[in-house]
Amino acid sequence: MLFSRSLSSLLLPALAFLSLSARASLHSRTIPTTAALKLSVKINSSGIKNIVAADRARVQALIKNGGNPSISVANAQLLCTTEIGIGTPPTYHKLLVDTGSSNTWIGANQSYVKTTTSKDTGSQFSVTYGDSNGVVGEEYLDTVTFNSDLVIESQSIGVASAGSNAGLTGGIDGILGIGPVDLTLGTSSNDVEIPTVMDNLYQQKTISSEVFGVFFSPASAGDTTGELTLGGYDASKITGNIGYVPTTSGSYANQYWGIDQSISYGKTSILSKTSGIVDTGTTLIMIATDAFNKYKAATGGVYDDVTGLLQISSDQYDKLSSLYFTIGGVSYELTPNAQIWPRSLNSVISGSTSGIYLIVSDTGSNSGSGVDFTNGYVFLERFYSVFDTTKSRVGFAKTKYTYVTSN
Ligand SMILES: *[C@@H]1O[C@H](CO)[C@@H](O)[C@H](O)[C@H]1NC(C)=O
Ligand SMILES: *[C@@H]1O[C@H](CO)[C@@H](O)[C@H](O)[C@H]1NC(C)=O
Repeated sequence: MLFSRSLSSLLLPALAFLSLSARASLHSRTIPTTAALKLSVKINSSGIKNIVAADRARVQALIKNGGNPSISVANAQLLCTTEIGIGTPPTYHKLLVDTGSSNTWIGANQSYVKTTTSKDTGSQFSVTYGDSNGVVGEEYLDTVTFNSDLVIESQSIGVASAGSNAGLTGGIDGILGIGPVDLTLGTSSNDVEIPTVMDNLYQQKTISSEVFGVFFSPASAGDTTGELTLGGYDASKITGNIGYVPTTSGSYANQYWGIDQSISYGKTSILSKTSGIVDTGTTLIMIATDAFNKYKAATGGVYDDVTGLLQISSDQYDKLSSLYFTIGGVSYELTPNAQIWPRSLNSVISGSTSGIYLIVSDTGSNSGSGVDFTNGYVFLERFYSVFDTTKSRVGFAKTKYTYVTSN
């Protein structure tokens, strides 16, 4: 804390000078205000039968652990990763990008390479994800590099102890936590909040507002890609305006990237305005049990034991209405095609080749639980999302994929 504060006061005069002079003449490197990181999205096929169970466990952990905020990542079915550099020169680590937690740590798969910028804080860190999985280790401060564009000095990095990995597999080395900073409270033996990478980028004036934007292309058989823009959003990825909504005051959603929304199926209201979260670590759209039962009745979907999803016939699919999410007074339409699992990926969920499965599922709690929905990947691949700490708001915008018939 102290160190980063004194560092930013050192940087301030330098930046004031920068803004007065021709940037390019100072050094060959101009100071960027955003960085666009490539996101790689993979479905964890080793446990895919539990796609619904995993999403439900995540939202249930959140509802039940309200006082002990943490969501399960270890059984994540949707693995959204990016690479960040740590140290000088940087060593690159593949990390799970998680909007539902806020610590950044490494060491699940790779050793930490200490360099001249590495500083051991002497503190221990410990994060629990969900009920059982967690990670413990030593807390360091080090330089973090995003795309060789944005650099943070003295970022807290947890270095996992041998054998401690929060259940991450597949070469994923740790987690890049981009949730709210409150979630770091109690994770350090130092008993302070640990500024997140976003906090430090902002405090060190590397980015001009504490904002990040998330873009996903629709899930496909190969690797799906996306983009995480730090310090802003990528205007080239959106069509039309960004609609913003203040983050919710409803607990427990307010401990995460929480918003208020209502949902209608066609003209039928299925969920009145309530709080829930927007989450890159959830695959499906999860809604409260009472809302889910209305959706089930309205679509005629039948619960399928194998996939855990609702299944519909092609006749029912032809009659499907759009699902409308009203957020901050703006209506976001999920077309019938956007409401079904990509048929090219049916085998991944052990579904039948020609089956049509709906991607809206049940949180396992009635509305009023504190987290009445999770807008996961299947929502975020249709709408660009903007997470703005500075203005305490979340925004959505249409993309070229909003209305595509890709499923
Ligand atoms: C993938 O799923 C399996 C089975 O649920 C789980 O053991 C493993 O930890 C998951 N991998 C990751 C990287 O989360
Ligand atoms: C790192 O990940 C790779 C790829 O999954 C795996 O083969 C290797 O055993 C892992 N190494 C460690 C130390 O976990």
